[in-house]
Amino acid sequence: MSDPLRVFITGGTKGIGRAIALRFAREGAMVAIAARTSPDLDEVVAEIETAGGKGEACQANLRDHGSLEAAVFRAVDFFGGEMDILVNNAGLVEFAAFDEVDMATWERFLAVNLTGPYHVLAEALPALRESSRAHVFNVGARLADSPAQGSALLATTKAGLAGLGRALREDLREDSIRVTTVEPGPTNTPGLAPWRERFEGQTLLEPEVIADAIWDAYHSDSETPSLVIE
Ligand SMILES: NC(=O)c1ccc[n+]([C@@H]2O[C@H](COP(=O)([O-])OP(=O)(O)OC[C@H]3O[C@@H](n4cnc5c(N)ncnc54)[C@H](OP(=O)(O)O)[C@@H]3O)[C@@H](O)[C@H]2O)c1
Repeated sequence: MSDPLRVFITGGTKGIGRAIALRFAREGAMVAIAARTSPDLDEVVAEIETAGGKGEACQANLRDHGSLEAAVFRAVDFFGGEMDILVNNAGLVEFAAFDEVDMATWERFLAVNLTGPYHVLAEALPALRESSRAHVFNVGARLADSPAQGSALLATTKAGLAGLGRALREDLREDSIRVTTVEPGPTNTPGLAPWRERFEGQTLLEPEVIADAIWDAYHSDSETPSLVIE
């Protein structure tokens, strides 16, 4: 039997991140999850253990570089020094007409959806380089390529994340670290719940579908630069 996978997931307490955590836990993985809310972290760590994995809670705020550094340190310590999979999943889901977007909101989006994942990646890279089977999944969004009304904040930051992913593939090729941008369509999560009316009459994806797609892409022999799920 091969060694358990060591997976670090930001935003692992709800929605898509939680589904990914439990998908890998069912296969016996070591899963470290990051989020801001401690009770949620404890709850999902318990679910990870019940599902058959080993869980670790790493409290962090994507807007606080120091807390991200500490969270990645804790995860890598839990893993024993190597990280196989980083899922940069935590992010905001909000819609607003461009005229309603003020500077504070713009900067909050850049901080959470783009600068946060950058910090996590920078902190995690040494441990990813130690692994012989490393893969980074950045969770973008389908609307980065096909924006809808009111999506400037999301489309801009997720397009930035996709650009980072494309560039990283080149920079990390010689380390044999694979990089995939995951681009889901509207998904039935707590994050989307306040915006449910926008998608009236549309069937939403379930978070487990995204989790299965990531599991399959990780185990596929073919390169998957972009994983569009809709
Ligand atoms: N749902 C969709 O329709 C959809 C579609 C395409 C792409 N996406 C993307 O998929 C990812 C997950 O979305 P979701 O809908 O599953 O989100 P969600 O249900 O709102 O869950 C968000 C997760 O991220 C954590 N989080 C939020 N802000 C954080 C911060 N500042 N620092 C650390 N952790 C934070 C939350 O925990 P705490 O609140 O405790 O921190 C939670 O665990 C996001 O990047 C989103 O943009 C979603």
